[in-house]
Amino acid sequence: MLLKLFKKQFLIYNFWMIKKIENICCIGAGYVGGPTMAVIADNCQDINVNVVDINKERIKAWNSSNLEELPIYEPGLDEIIERRRDKNLFFSTDIENNISKSDIIFISVNTPTKKKGLGAGQASDLKWVEVCARKVAKFAKGYTIVVEKSTLPVKTAEVIKNILEAAELNSKNKNLKFDVLSNPEFLAEGTAINDLEKPDRVLIGGENESAILTLNEIYSNWVPKNKILHTNIWSSELAKLTANAFLAQRISSINSIGALCEATGADVREVARAIGTDSRIGSKFLDAGPGFGGSCFKKDILNLVYLSNYFNLPEVANFWEEIVKMNDWHQNRISKLIIKKLFGTVAGKKICILGFSFKANTNDTRESAAINICKNLLEEGAILFIHDPKVSPQQIEIDLCQKESNFTNRKDEDDKFIENKWSFAKDIYSSSKDADAIVVLTEWAEYEDLDWQKLSNNLRKPAWVFDARSVIPRNKISGLDLNFWKIGDGTNF
Ligand code: NAD
Ligand code: UGA
Repeated sequence: MLLKLFKKQFLIYNFWMIKKIENICCIGAGYVGGPTMAVIADNCQDINVNVVDINKERIKAWNSSNLEELPIYEPGLDEIIERRRDKNLFFSTDIENNISKSDIIFISVNTPTKKKGLGAGQASDLKWVEVCARKVAKFAKGYTIVVEKSTLPVKTAEVIKNILEAAELNSKNKNLKFDVLSNPEFLAEGTAINDLEKPDRVLIGGENESAILTLNEIYSNWVPKNKILHTNIWSSELAKLTANAFLAQRISSINSIGALCEATGADVREVARAIGTDSRIGSKFLDAGPGFGGSCFKKDILNLVYLSNYFNLPEVANFWEEIVKMNDWHQNRISKLIIKKLFGTVAGKKICILGFSFKANTNDTRESAAINICKNLLEEGAILFIHDPKVSPQQIEIDLCQKESNFTNRKDEDDKFIENKWSFAKDIYSSSKDADAIVVLTEWAEYEDLDWQKLSNNLRKPAWVFDARSVIPRNKISGLDLNFWKIGDGTNF
């Protein structure tokens, strides 16, 4: 009886604590805002989810009836968009109205590394976050929960809170009231939908218990309760930076060991398997590659470096900065190695690049290792044919800061040798005609099944295959007239 009464009271208590949510708004329709809100809309069909952005083109693409034109390629995303768009999931540029009618507002805008001013090159640029906080302060009505979804430096919630508190004080509307929560996103591109549907954890940091429970209630529609963690707001902000720093650290660690494997006759995959079976180390995130890319690892570590220096902890800052330095060194090492193997020069040599996105299953190229490596090769005079199943030639032009050229031969119409040019490769086989090398930079599944006999016939001999992703089975190459280099494989020598 007593227990029954307690349970009833608890429910009443809970009911009182949790605000009923009808409208959610997410500012920022990018790689995080788009998929995250799609999954919320799919799992909470009684809530209207409005994703807003200042970028009209992006919103137009999100609303395109042709799902192939969505601005983001992410496996499984198109099906959710088809199911929920214009039912309880809306994409729009009407930021003000959507802020006004929302109970919860997620801020999911970009937070890149600052290019100038104080902290340039390390600190995150928070100008977009601040603009959003000011818009929320101006247009929100009544009680609103503001959620940091973007990855932010520790103490950013304080900045947002200050802006919102000033609005509360200066508003004629006595009901205007805000709570700020930190709810960092841990999805990885290429597996975003799965990561969002079955997250390892959802982290909610905040001070106000009722606001935390309200956000908790949304996630508990599909995430098991024991996977929703509550922390204080600063721990939540720091945990996000720390998770990315630890992940990136593993990649720099395994890539450094890969270089040692190549020098000593060991094989990095065997080393990874051997250490990965230690349950304390674990087997994930130990794939040697061309160095980590993506919009966040470098930015978040540099942010950590900046924060550590700011709080007068230079040793901590130096420790984390080494992870980024190792990654830069590693990418340059691969470019140099290609040049060295091609008799010390790539000038006028045709090289096929397979993969331009920073990892497979995404069209995102931000900080992709391919950008650095291609730029290095172009600078040395190479002519590149670049293939990627999802990245457009226009995006490659932007990333390489160089227009695409149309050429098929090593010589132009005036019979002059071509150097330092690139062209988009629609078909890998015809693009490989007379090439001196093929370089695999992204682990797209289709590169595992290439006809190497056919490719070998096309290449100019002596020819090289450089596999920086370990996707080509050795038996598919052996016996062919090809030189083969595989990342971290010392048994090549
Ligand atoms: P993105 O660049 O893809 O998207 C950000 C969007 O915000 C853009 O479309 C931009 O137009 C919009 N925007 C900027 N200022 C705006 C404003 N004032 N009003 C309305 N819209 C505005 O960035 P992203 O990859 O989605 O990352 C967003 C945040 O999430 C970053 O802090 C990032 O560190 C973090 N994050 C990213 C990932 C990822 O995989 N990309 C994963 C976890 C966390
Ligand atoms: C990463 C984290 O994994 C996410 O948890 C985080 O939310 C996200 O950053 C973010 O904050 O933006 P993402 O960058 O999308 O996700 O992709 P990852 O799978 O982490 O890969 C990052 C880079 O490391 C890629 O270039 C990938 O090829 C490389 N990588 C990854 C390796 O070279 N080896 C590995 O074993 C794993």
